[in-house]
Amino acid sequence: MTTPAPVRRSLTAIVLAAGKGTRMRSDLPKVLHRLAGRSMLGHVLAAVQAAGAARIAVVAEPGRADVAREIEALAPGSEVFPQVERLGTAHAVLAARAVLSNGEGGEGDDVIVAFGDTPLITGETLARLRAPLAEGAAVAVLAFETEAPAGYGRVLTEGTRVVAIREEKDATPEERAVRLCNAGLMALSGAHALALLERIGNDNAAGEYYLPDAVALAIGDGLSVAVVPVPEAEAQGVNDRVQLGVAEAAIQARLRRSAQLGGATLVAPETVFLSHDTILGRDVLVEPNVVFDTGVRVDDACVIHAFSHLKDVRLEAGASVGPFARLRGGAVLEAGATIGNFVELKNARLGPGAKAAHLTYLGDAEIGARANVGAGTITCNYDGVSKHRTTIGAGAFIGSNSALVAPVTVGAGAFVASGSVITDDVPEGALAVARGRQATKPGWAETKRAALRAEKAARAGKS
Ligand code: UD1
Ligand code: CA
Repeated sequence: MTTPAPVRRSLTAIVLAAGKGTRMRSDLPKVLHRLAGRSMLGHVLAAVQAAGAARIAVVAEPGRADVAREIEALAPGSEVFPQVERLGTAHAVLAARAVLSNGEGGEGDDVIVAFGDTPLITGETLARLRAPLAEGAAVAVLAFETEAPAGYGRVLTEGTRVVAIREEKDATPEERAVRLCNAGLMALSGAHALALLERIGNDNAAGEYYLPDAVALAIGDGLSVAVVPVPEAEAQGVNDRVQLGVAEAAIQARLRRSAQLGGATLVAPETVFLSHDTILGRDVLVEPNVVFDTGVRVDDACVIHAFSHLKDVRLEAGASVGPFARLRGGAVLEAGATIGNFVELKNARLGPGAKAAHLTYLGDAEIGARANVGAGTITCNYDGVSKHRTTIGAGAFIGSNSALVAPVTVGAGAFVASGSVITDDVPEGALAVARGRQATKPGWAETKRAALRAEKAARAGKS
């Protein structure tokens, strides 16, 4: 006798994302609220992709161009299904009926249903949720124990076996005391999904079609239902901004830990804010109160001093930033470049070893290797209509308090005298001075003061 080869079913994910989430009190749909620089929907799409979903269906409120754009950007190729009336989570899954009904011979793909408002879930957990299907379960639910079960559906058990999930609104006081809660997410075998979902009714306190009712129906049919445990921190749903704040804290803790385990020192980790895509290399040192907005990559051995804010930035090995620096819009520091306090960079590249140590704005600029930009230098990159570039050659020296009116080029090794307003290109190796020449008048001050006093006395005599 030969054992049959295991059936390799593929995975379909249905992400429920319809509805405003009235308790958010927002003009933005709930699932577009952001955590660590990415929408909750984006986090969930990333998790279902990591779990290996071959097909992704998103159920969304019809006509939401913003939601459609987000899906197209983060999970192109996903199918979007409108849910016209918001009649509950089971009703929402059925809006994506087209992806449930195309299994051949009654087999069908494995299905996981994820919620757009449960953003801390990982691909690994979704894979664990799916696993019981391969062992013959018809339904698997994700459940967590919590001291604060209010608002969640409770997982009701008899002995060790699950019998039903009861929404809080429908629960008796004894059922409300249960602390095993439904995380909401569910795995369904393709063979049973559609038949179970179609039998779910709406005879309950909310008058909604509840997805968790699939559990009691499956048990009633004698099918097997698995409960897969998940840590509370990963199961948290977001229904209001308090929960959004709690989820942000959880995601930050996760990101900090992974940066630390990757070899970065965060001196005061709880004060460093990271984005989902922040990359910190080995032996990077991050001082307190630093914000990494999206699009930041920091190579090995860089130092980010306190109170700096970075967005869309690339720091190459050994670069140093801050304290109190703001880098944005495609700033690049090549190896060993230094940006000091109160310096802002926008779309500017500093070559290896270049320095701008104090009080400077460099926008739309290219700074050559080892060039030194003095305190108070400003690139005047905007004429009120268009942006223009400033190019500073390798080894050039820009004296303090200079204004470089773009478009302008300072050649390699050139010298700009401090206080200059540079409007013409400066050739390589030249000195440019563009300011009033100093005049010194010996003894002038005392003579002037005497004259001023005399005038004052004359005025006093008149009145
Ligand atoms: C749901 C579960 C509850 C579980 C909790 C976990 C149901 C009936 N209840 O409750 O057992 O403990 O999640 O967080 O499933 N959605 C739609 N269309 C709808 C209704 C909901 O797309 O018609 C989407 C929402 O956008 C949201 C998700 O489904 O992303 C969950 O809906 P929500 O109303 O937040 O359910 P909960 O009351 O939190
Ligand atoms: Ca919810």
